Amino acid sequence: MNKVHILGLGPGNPNYILSVTKEIIKNSDIIIGGKRNIDSILELAENKEIYYVDAFLDKMINYIEANNDKKISVIVSGDTGFYSLLTYIKNNYSGELEVISGISSMQYMFSKICETWDNAFISSVHGRELDFQNYLKTYKKIGLLTDNKYTPQNIAKILLEQNLTNFEIIVGENLSYDNEIIRKYNVEHLAFEEKKFDINVVVIREGKTCTI
Ligand SMILES: C[S@@+](CC[C@H](N)C(=O)[O-])C[C@H]1O[C@@H](n2cnc3c(N)ncnc32)[C@H](O)[C@@H]1O
Repeated sequence: MNKVHILGLGPGNPNYILSVTKEIIKNSDIIIGGKRNIDSILELAENKEIYYVDAFLDKMINYIEANNDKKISVIVSGDTGFYSLLTYIKNNYSGELEVISGISSMQYMFSKICETWDNAFISSVHGRELDFQNYLKTYKKIGLLTDNKYTPQNIAKILLEQNLTNFEIIVGENLSYDNEIIRKYNVEHLAFEEKKFDINVVVIREGKTCTI
């Protein structure tokens, strides 16, 4: 039985994939991952068996168990330790794992806006509930992974309802890709922004910004 590799690819652009990770992908027989992640390594994955991850994660575990005589790499976005498939695989697969992380979209975002995150509250509203406004009151600087429910607009509306308007919200969209856009908003503006954002993270910090 081979070790299953769990590999963090970084924010998305293949230039951010570590060389060690590329080597492991090249030496794998099977690559398992979501479509966006598989698309970013298509060249490296040439001639390999590909398993696209969907909502039925139990099937993925069955597939790994049925093929664990082969070299399997499960690719995830960003940092393997930050809201990734690693949690599910650890809890449901009993074989040996080797994990190599990548740069998180959150790390990438903080560096692009020249901001530190050692004193920030970092979390996610991607598929989960979180009273982020309470953390914002305490920490004054937070970073959140988002999703289609907690969009940047909906996050801004929650802040507006609570009169937390003395903050700027920075939205980092398609980070590391050619169509990356990082833009600052004030709460009132973002709450009524009509644009539909692509995949994004937000950083909220004290201060008013003038982007209107
Ligand atoms: C399941 S989480 C995975 C997070 C990942 N492990 C990381 O460290 O970046 C998916 C969320 O990460 C964020 N994300 C991942 N890649 C991104 C990118 N290139 N640009 C903007 N946000 C990204 C989005 O908030 C997305 O909804």
